[in-house]
Amino acid sequence: MSNLIASTAPKARQLTPEEIHDIEHEKTHYPYAQAVGLEALKIVQKYQGWVSDESLLAVADYLKLPPDELEGVATFFNMIFRRPVGKHVILLCDSVACWMLGCDNLKAHISSKLGIEYGQTTADNQFTLIPVPCLGDCDKAPAMMVGDKTYRNLTPAKIDAILADCTARG
Ligand code: FES
Repeated sequence: MSNLIASTAPKARQLTPEEIHDIEHEKTHYPYAQAVGLEALKIVQKYQGWVSDESLLAVADYLKLPPDELEGVATFFNMIFRRPVGKHVILLCDSVACWMLGCDNLKAHISSKLGIEYGQTTADNQFTLIPVPCLGDCDKAPAMMVGDKTYRNLTPAKIDAILADCTARG
């Protein structure tokens, strides 16, 4: 029984030379390995698209951090994706200012256009829709991020143009 459990448990993968290079670079900015944990997870996500159990264990091994502690960091920071995501991740703000200015309608618009609910990815792996707390742009609500770009004062027409642009870029 214990062999069965051991054989199915995720194992740390090998970090790539690029990931190691970037993590080492981040380490020069922080005094302790704990402080680098979040940045290391972001680096893995940049290269892999998301943070699998195998990746999380690899980072924990590399930084000599307890995996549970790193998992806590990943859970707390909701822009670390612990499941596969689409090529374009739509982070739609659903906090108060955006909610008052109609983010629910925008969410309904995106859902009907792409056929996905929060937490889901389109069948062609192009888009994932995720709700996020305040993006810090309340004076230009409703707001959302796609990739590292923030879009403000959203309307259904603006969203159509953003999605079309993402699709055109592939
Ligand atoms: S509430 Fe949406 S950006 Fe602040």
